[in-house]
Amino acid sequence: MSVDVGPSSDFAEKELRLVHAGRRQVGVVRWNGNLYAVNNYCTHKGGPICLGILGGRLESDRPGSLSLDISRPTLACPWHGWEFDLQTGRALPDPKIRIRTFPVSEVQGRVLVDLGGTEIGPRREAETPAIQTFNPGAA
Ligand code: FES
Repeated sequence: MSVDVGPSSDFAEKELRLVHAGRRQVGVVRWNGNLYAVNNYCTHKGGPICLGILGGRLESDRPGSLSLDISRPTLACPWHGWEFDLQTGRALPDPKIRIRTFPVSEVQGRVLVDLGGTEIGPRREAETPAIQTFNPGAA
């Protein structure tokens, strides 16, 4: 089921906007004109990943060489810095680990997040943490 999370004009390029969709908090990003949606829950230890750092994908094909691929957005978790590809949800250092992503579209000037068939209902704390602030001394 798709949830209307607001007008297209609310989603500026390369800014992550945290919205409520069903019982979840979902981060929505417009990157190079494409929209991405991700659950605000890091699968490493449950951090609020949408409070992390949004950027391109840093790559290296040999020691001493780095390049930045800005065609693909990544999100670094604020708790321990794990980076995830927003297109696939996969962690960059270990693709077997994923965060949950959702299909997102624009219809008649509105942004719609597709949560699937069973996502509408009361919010469950175990799946969607409250907004938390990063405390480097506590991690
Ligand atoms: S909780 Fe996200 S990297 Fe650890």
